[in-house]
Amino acid sequence: MMKVGLIGAGKMAEAIIASLIETKTLGAHQILACEIDAARRRQVKRRYGINVYSRPEHIVDASNVIFLAVKPQSITDTVRSFADALTAKHLVVSIAAGKTIANLEGLMPAARIVRVMPNICSVVSHGMSAFCMGTRAKAADIKSVKVLLSSFGKVLELPEKHFDAVTALSGSGPAFFAFVLQAMVKSAERMGLSKDAALLLGEQTMLGTANLLMDKKLSPETLIEAVTSAKGTTEAGLGVLGKSDVAEILDETLKAAAKRSKELSG
Ligand SMILES: NC(=O)c1ccc[n+]([C@@H]2O[C@H](COP(=O)([O-])OP(=O)(O)OC[C@H]3O[C@@H](n4cnc5c(N)ncnc54)[C@H](OP(=O)(O)O)[C@@H]3O)[C@@H](O)[C@H]2O)c1
Repeated sequence: MMKVGLIGAGKMAEAIIASLIETKTLGAHQILACEIDAARRRQVKRRYGINVYSRPEHIVDASNVIFLAVKPQSITDTVRSFADALTAKHLVVSIAAGKTIANLEGLMPAARIVRVMPNICSVVSHGMSAFCMGTRAKAADIKSVKVLLSSFGKVLELPEKHFDAVTALSGSGPAFFAFVLQAMVKSAERMGLSKDAALLLGEQTMLGTANLLMDKKLSPETLIEAVTSAKGTTEAGLGVLGKSDVAEILDETLKAAAKRSKELSG
């Protein structure tokens, strides 16, 4: 039976716990967590009915799958506190930005490792997770990982060399899309719309655009073409976007995020 222990019970861990329970992938009795912050421990325990402990040592022995869900800066110290208790029964799933398979396998020589880059949209079960298997992972681990990750969104296996780009695009991406939305909402407010109305119009349009692209398997280019009629409103707006350096700025934005992901792995 799968027993999942989460180390760190912050935002991402909560999204994982909630999805595993809501989709009935696991029962609450199959999930344990540990969390440094006492108030947060009580909150997570109350919300999900799972046992939440103060230290990793308390959950390692009782789990066969361990999610590492602390901030990248805390990974090394946190892992050192329980690495000796890991055995061949443990599959460790790290969601920490920038922590490489080599880093993680060095820190946890006994465990099988999977590296995952999820995103915050996992909170509403529309997450995007990329994963890559460590050198000691087995074929059966791929199946387990896919089952667990698909409880909170879509899943894609990719070679580790792409993880800095993945971190930039889908890991940090929700903040970049939200930034664009914020700017468009402010513009609509300046045209007289209320903030609530502008947010609803903007958010539903963002959601609908992604659904349309995915459901109809359209490329962004095809969608742009389909919405743009000669001398129409979209053409007028795209004329401004096309002449601007927005594409270059977005390129710089993703490069900066990918660079930071690389630095975190150093
Ligand atoms: N948020 C995202 O959008 C996102 C996307 C992709 C990947 N990730 C990755 O997911 C991981 C978690 O991110 P998050 O946003 O969920 O962070 P978070 O909300 O700060 O959660 C981490 C939690 O772990 C606790 N903690 C720290 N050290 C601990 C220890 N030794 N034992 C037990 N608990 C400990 C922290 O407590 P304190 O706050 O008291 O330190 C905090 O409550 C990160 O590695 C990040 O790179 C996040």
